[in-house]
Amino acid sequence: MHSKEIKNICCIGAGYVGGPTMAVIANYCHQIQVNVVDINAERIARWNETDLSNLPIYEPGLKEIVSERRGKNLHFSTDIPNNIKKADMIFISVNTPTKVKGIGAGQASDLKYVEASSREISKYAEGFTIVVEKSTLPVKTAQTIKDILDASTSSKIIKEKKSFAVLSNPEFLAEGSAIEDLNNPDRVLIGGDNKGAIDLLVDIYTKWVDKSKILTTDLWSAELSKLIANAFLAQRISSINTISALCESTGAHIKDVALAVGMDRRIGKEFLNSGPGFGGSCFKKDISNLVYISNHYGLNEVAEYWQKVLTINSWQQKRFIELIVKKMFGTLTSKKIAILGFAFKSNTNDTRESPAIFICKKLLEEGAFLKIYDPKVSAEQIDKDLGRNIEYKSNSEEKKNWTFSNSLYETFKDTDAGIFITEWGEFQNLNWSKISPLMRKPAWIFDTRSILEIEEVKENGINIWQVGCVA
Ligand code: NAD
Ligand code: UGA
Repeated sequence: MHSKEIKNICCIGAGYVGGPTMAVIANYCHQIQVNVVDINAERIARWNETDLSNLPIYEPGLKEIVSERRGKNLHFSTDIPNNIKKADMIFISVNTPTKVKGIGAGQASDLKYVEASSREISKYAEGFTIVVEKSTLPVKTAQTIKDILDASTSSKIIKEKKSFAVLSNPEFLAEGSAIEDLNNPDRVLIGGDNKGAIDLLVDIYTKWVDKSKILTTDLWSAELSKLIANAFLAQRISSINTISALCESTGAHIKDVALAVGMDRRIGKEFLNSGPGFGGSCFKKDISNLVYISNHYGLNEVAEYWQKVLTINSWQQKRFIELIVKKMFGTLTSKKIAILGFAFKSNTNDTRESPAIFICKKLLEEGAFLKIYDPKVSAEQIDKDLGRNIEYKSNSEEKKNWTFSNSLYETFKDTDAGIFITEWGEFQNLNWSKISPLMRKPAWIFDTRSILEIEEVKENGINIWQVGCVA
């Protein structure tokens, strides 16, 4: 079949996956022109900013690659038609959020962006084009994409001018370590039924990934494996979070338990950090989708099993709020609370589904005033996530109920409590003798990530609660 060299790649979607993934491909494959396109003109403008600290995505190592390859073989553009037309291979990396209305609302993936991308490809592509699913998609989505593409080639004349192969190549990178994960993936998964197309994608990855790590399967296995990998990872977090509560009730220590359990090679030590529940744009969305698909196939017990992973995740956050209110004499009204970290994990500026959003909203509902610090998340982003940064008093005057803090130590000034929500490295060696005089006593620290030295905090006259330790 069509054995041809890939000279031009187009990636639809310049987000947390499209941007870093294409930057790494461009970095290893100088002979390929990589064009990343998006309908979001502001995002593309930021990818093209001269000042690399303004790139739309913060990932360690990313700006160095963009600086090296941009303008040479890595380009960011809003010109979707022309870049599709030129491409031999097109990656679909658009967002696949959970449906908010209609059939499957709250569970099924909304494939409207995937469908729109497929329609654009069917309209503008020329010659033989390999279409690669990079987004995380429900099993069997490749069939939908094929149906849309095939509809555009139904007449014999057009068929001679354009044809397609569809592959599934799910992405396993984690935010905060995206470049490292792309440089050294545990595996690369390629699903498809067109051997020639699979070989061309394998050729790209073998520029830097050992062949033994490149796994080829059928389309449905590749699509499903991605959902299941995320479900298994999230399941471990919910498992360890249930045990954190048991530790708090019994006097055991979650870190010791996790270490002892994880040293069994069959269990493994990764992903056993208890915390405020998993955030991020994917775990909740992908498990909801798994629950939806299982129910769709009549596998209700399977659906119930995975639903519990989500239930435990919300429960962990709710129990933290109850605990904080209880420790602070049952009321937060007019109390000032420092929020340390707003991103859903460290080393990223992403706040999607961050536990900080739920926790802050609940604290505001309880009447607290928040001072929020995060080294990478902007005040504008927090404003979007919390809805509004004002409360309306009965006489319709407006009063701010949270502020953004630019300085870590200043955040603690005049506060009654500090809640550590993201595990940023800079939180791990704080000078507690400097913080203590800034806080109103009795002061509380709530360490939802187990990152602080309990004794150091206590020695400085501050009460501390840490997840998975005696409450
Ligand atoms: P994102 O929201 O950051 O980026 C998606 C981009 O696609 C947006 O910039 C949006 O404007 C653009 N887009 C949407 N429709 C478009 C269209 N018709 N034409 C052109 N551009 C369009 O999302 P993301 O985090 O990069 O995730 C993308 C996919 O990758 C999702 O399916 C997600 O589940 C999956 N994934 C994400 C991660 C992660 O760490 N974020 C990791 C692995 C897989
Ligand atoms: C996750 C997966 O790790 C990636 O393999 C996958 O590609 C990606 O989802 C995706 O499909 O989007 P990501 O969400 O970026 O990556 O980050 P993780 O490191 O998995 O963390 C997710 C959440 O779980 C974070 O809120 C993190 O703080 C939390 N977490 C993680 C814990 O609470 N405990 C842990 O031990 C690990």
